[in-house]
Formats: sequence, C-alpha cells, structure tokens
Amino acid sequence: MVAKPLPLEEVMGLEPRAVQERITAAREALGEEVVILGHHYQREEVFRHAHHAGDSLKLARRAAASRARYIVFCGVHFMAEVADILSRPDQVAILPDLAAGCSMADMASLAQVSRAWRELEEVLGAAGDQVMPVTYINSAADLKAFCGERGGIVCTSSNARQVLAWAWERRPKVLFFPDQHLGRNTAHRMGVPLEDMVVWDYGRPLGGLEPEQIRRARLILWKGFCSVHQMFRPEHVRAFKERHPEARVVAHPECSFEVCELADFVGSTEAIIRYVAEGPPGRYLVGTELNLVERLARRFAPEGKQVHFMSPTVCLCSTMFRISPEHLLWTLENLLEGRVVNPIRVPEAVAGPARLALERMFQVSP
Ligand code: 13P
Ligand code: SF4
Repeated sequence: MVAKPLPLEEVMGLEPRAVQERITAAREALGEEVVILGHHYQREEVFRHAHHAGDSLKLARRAAASRARYIVFCGVHFMAEVADILSRPDQVAILPDLAAGCSMADMASLAQVSRAWRELEEVLGAAGDQVMPVTYINSAADLKAFCGERGGIVCTSSNARQVLAWAWERRPKVLFFPDQHLGRNTAHRMGVPLEDMVVWDYGRPLGGLEPEQIRRARLILWKGFCSVHQMFRPEHVRAFKERHPEARVVAHPECSFEVCELADFVGSTEAIIRYVAEGPPGRYLVGTELNLVERLARRFAPEGKQVHFMSPTVCLCSTMFRISPEHLLWTLENLLEGRVVNPIRVPEAVAGPARLALERMFQVSP
C-alpha cells in the first residue's frame, strides 16, 4: 500500500525509518517508470535507493541509455541538466532539491567565459583557430553549449586525458574551465610542463596575464576549484605517510597539484573505487568526499583494507548533501500521483549545442 504524498514540510517531520520504508514502497510502485541515479558522494540513506551508482561519466551514460519516463538524479544540478540534454523529449530529469548545485560549476558563468574568449581574441586573433574550449562536465549547460558552438568539447574526471589529447590534435591551445586542478593535473601527467600553463583569473582584465604569457601558453586554466577537494593538503599526506609509510595514497584529480604529486593513484570516483577493490590488503589514504571514503572503508574492511580519509577535518560536499531521503521520498510519492516536482529542463537552443559537445566527448571516450 503506497501512502498519499505529504507536503515537504510534513515529510521532513517523519521518522527516518518511515522515510526509508516509504521510499522503498514508492520506488517499487513506480516500477520501470522511474530510474534513480546516485552519485558516489550521496549519503547512504539516499544512495541505497539508487538503481545505478556511478561517477559523472557513468551516470551520464546511464541517463542517455535509460528508457524510464522519470530520471531522478540524486546528485547535483549540472548532472540533472546533462540527463535532460541526453534523454528523449518525453523523459523528465528531476533533481529532488533544486538547491543542490556545485560551487565549482558556479565559478564560471557564460558572461565570464564569453568575456575571456573576447579578450583572448584581442591577443591571438580569431580565438577559434587557436584555442579549443574544453569544459569540465561540472559546469552549467550554457557553457557546454558555448563549447559545442566553437568546435569544443566536454570532459569528466574519467576522460580528461583523452579529451585534452583530442583538443591539442586540433588546436595549439586549450582554454579549460572551470577546474584548474583537473586541467593541470591531467596535462602534467601527459607530459606538459607547468611553464606551458597559465591561470586565468576571471576577476581581472585579460585574466591577470600579460599578452606574451597568453601567446606562449598551451593550456589556459580557469581559476576555479572544488571547495571540498581543496581541503586536502600535502601535509596531511606527509603526516600519514610518516606513521604508515606503506600506505597507498589515492587522490581525486580535483585535489591540488601538490597532493596529486604525492599520490600513488589519481582518478575519478569510479576509478578510485576500482583501485581499492583491485588492490591488496593494507592501508589506503583517500582524498575525496567523505561519504564515498566512508563507504569504501565499510565495504573493504572485511578484505583487510583500512581506508582512511585524507583530511583531519570533515569535508562533505554540502550541495550533494542537499539531496535528503525526505526530498527523494517527496519526489517519488508525487510522481505516483502524476505530479513532477523539480523538473530540470534545458531549453533546446542551449541543449542542442551542449549535446554536440557531449557527443564529441562520447566519441573520444565511448
Ligand atoms: P566524478 O566524475 O569523479 O564522480 O567527480 C564528480 C565530482 O563532482 C567530483 O567532485
Ligand atoms: Fe562540485 Fe566539489 Fe561537490 Fe564535486 S565535490 S559536486 S566539484 S562542490
């Protein structure tokens, strides 16, 4: 028996156990009408209800392949936008709490990137001949469209290397936004020296650079970062290694260059899980969001793997955390009544060119 949907304020007052039971019942009653996608950073009480879990790339593929009428995205706003862009017009992507944004994605707006592009043109001439725009998937749909319209492309933390190689095969320079760390860490591992990279400070004219620096650079890195991953510091790694020299150090590529240089393995959330799953028993020090690290610790403890969080302070992704079990329940029970709450719709004028940039990415990393 499925209960009648309650207003969100009342759902918020339910006992946690009742919330869990009602989610399970609503999910079952919706059957194939709904697919719930869960990013690895979701809290356990939400994550356990996902039909599919994954990193940004895997979930984008899942959304594109889904036949379900409703795609409920337990993740952040840009992920639900990608699901809408890649799904059929009769499917609806839903974000259970619209406040679940990404602070890094908010560090680059279309106005700022368009201004940067114009300023690059002042220095380089037609920027489109010289510079390939590459946006990390952690960005608004209109920035993906910006790339799509200029021959550019999207990347995720899983395929940034292939995407950058693709970009440099076509143009001598890359403008990479919004995450400077993913761009720098990936390019450096591809053999690009740090001297060939500059940081574009989007708050300053010409990115705070001299025209000569722009002419010389191969990689122009937007000055964006993830507020969660910037909390991991090289001194945390060194202090841990002093106590446990044998420990394997694992970092997400949104971590700083210094942290990634100290890591034994750098990869996306999905790749991190694989690394620990396939590794030998022993200690792992992991620099990525707390929910995922705690899940790894629980899952692999029986195999003799001790998984530790890299920072001494708690670093949660507070926007991922916005998706509460109560919001998920409220979303599902409304769907049962035929009401769609919090749909994410990207207008076709933006979705079309954004899809182009995403499809280029899928060609590069099928
Ligand atoms: P992944 O694609 O590696 O899951 O990363 C997404 C993200 O937002 C990490 O902060
Ligand atoms: Fe955005 Fe960082 Fe949260 Fe990932 S962890 S969703 S990059 S704020």
